[in-house]
Amino acid sequence: MKKLGILLSGRGSNFEAIARNVQAGKIPAEIAIVISNKEEALGLARAKEMGLATCFIPSKGKEREAFDREVVAVLKEHKVDLVCLAGFMRILSPYFIREFPRRILNIHPALLPSFPGVEAQKQALEYGVKFTGCTVHIVDEGVDTGPVVCQAAVPILDDDTVETLSARILKEEHRIYSEGICLMLEGRVRIEGRRMVKVG
Ligand code: GAR
Repeated sequence: MKKLGILLSGRGSNFEAIARNVQAGKIPAEIAIVISNKEEALGLARAKEMGLATCFIPSKGKEREAFDREVVAVLKEHKVDLVCLAGFMRILSPYFIREFPRRILNIHPALLPSFPGVEAQKQALEYGVKFTGCTVHIVDEGVDTGPVVCQAAVPILDDDTVETLSARILKEEHRIYSEGICLMLEGRVRIEGRRMVKVG
């Protein structure tokens, strides 16, 4: 059974969606460890309630790589095959990326390469695009720049606020993150340059 390591910093609704699909047998893996850099993260509390192994690793005041070394050590200890960032609000060091080459996924609330970085939903609303969405991508050394695994488009309505738009995107995030994890775990995608192409 493949092992997932989840990294989160807050609410953890994407983590919960993944956990539900794991429990339902829709993702061929188990969640080996849930790590948070925020002790008060709701996602961490939910993981504990679910009986999953959890770990709080404070990031405050630490050099980026020193923190990442602690996280990588815990992920390796739990023999994690695929790392899933689920609202983990930190940029990973090159060290981290090298330790899990092409084995780290992230979910971003926009259609990359549009609106990378923070407050992607607000950026899209203010720009005035008519469609935005969400992206599951492989994490590389840039900010939201790695190869795209899958995406979903979401319309922007005239009366949308950041909150209503974010909620509509979040629904799709919960659906496609599990889809992206399955594609990776089942080896149903290969990389051609930047392009992730389905095989079989
Ligand atoms: C999600 O919308 C996720 O796409 C976003 O943070 C939220 C976390 O929600 N991530 C980023 O913006 C990463 N740049 P959650 O904690 O409920 O999953």
